[in-house]
Amino acid sequence: MTDRYAVVGHPIAHSKSPLIHAAFAQATGQDIAYTAIEAPLDGFEATVRAFFEGGGRGLNVTLPFKLQACEMATDPSEAARLAGAANALKIDGDRLWAENFDGVGLVNDIQRNLGHAIAGKRVLLLGAGGATRGAILPIAAQGPAVLAVANRTAAKAHELRHDFAAQLALQTGGYDELAGEAFDVIVNATSAGLSGEALPLPAGLFAPGALAYDMVYGKGLTPFLRQAQAAGVAALADGVGMLVEQAAEAFVWWRGVRPDTRPVIAQLSVPLV
Ligand code: ATR
Repeated sequence: MTDRYAVVGHPIAHSKSPLIHAAFAQATGQDIAYTAIEAPLDGFEATVRAFFEGGGRGLNVTLPFKLQACEMATDPSEAARLAGAANALKIDGDRLWAENFDGVGLVNDIQRNLGHAIAGKRVLLLGAGGATRGAILPIAAQGPAVLAVANRTAAKAHELRHDFAAQLALQTGGYDELAGEAFDVIVNATSAGLSGEALPLPAGLFAPGALAYDMVYGKGLTPFLRQAQAAGVAALADGVGMLVEQAAEAFVWWRGVRPDTRPVIAQLSVPLV
């Protein structure tokens, strides 16, 4: 029997998840159907319950429901709890399990696909919202020399240092405090680029050989990637690999089979120009 999966969000029409999971299923011979569901803004929980009561096996969750997905789970993972957000759900009897694979997707893309090791390196996350929150532990697990978070609202970055104090010593502050510092891996996890805005990044922020990574995908050169390019950075990446890698983690979690991500990343990539 075909097992049913879906992604839930609002809006959802833009989601690449059905395409990604269909490609994974075909390549691995898994008999699944994966659709997109637009939940009403005030009806996320009801949508999830109806899906599972109807025999659905697993869900991906996207904006703006990731926090609610974590809250409604009976068994959120540590990653989901610390991120305060979940992007994957599965049902097991009366238990609802929640995971957050965004951070591990980012780390797998940076290390495996882009070939930039994190261990011993200086890593900077720009932004202090949910995207950064989800990335902190998976990056920390790789043993960077420094993990820093800079945000327009410095207080929000400091809040993260406090929330993760039991796990690691985050370096946090505003963009002005980055002056004189250089990093090997710099990840833009803000939504600034979506409105075309550049971040006030000081000169010298990118160390020689640095990777500039924008979590946004499919937009070509974003304002952040342009800034990096102008600063002489050769290694530029958008978030398409992160998107496909987090999907692969969910696929393994649901099906116990690891799909090859490379052909799907290649299919979805748009040139960074
Ligand atoms: P997400 O869950 O995707 O991370 P979010 O929680 O709304 O989204 O966080 C958005 C992030 O983008 C925040 O760090 C925000 O900075 P503030 O905390 O100061 O609001 C950042 N951001 C959004 N627009 C920005 C801009 N024009 N310049 C700098 N940072 C911006």
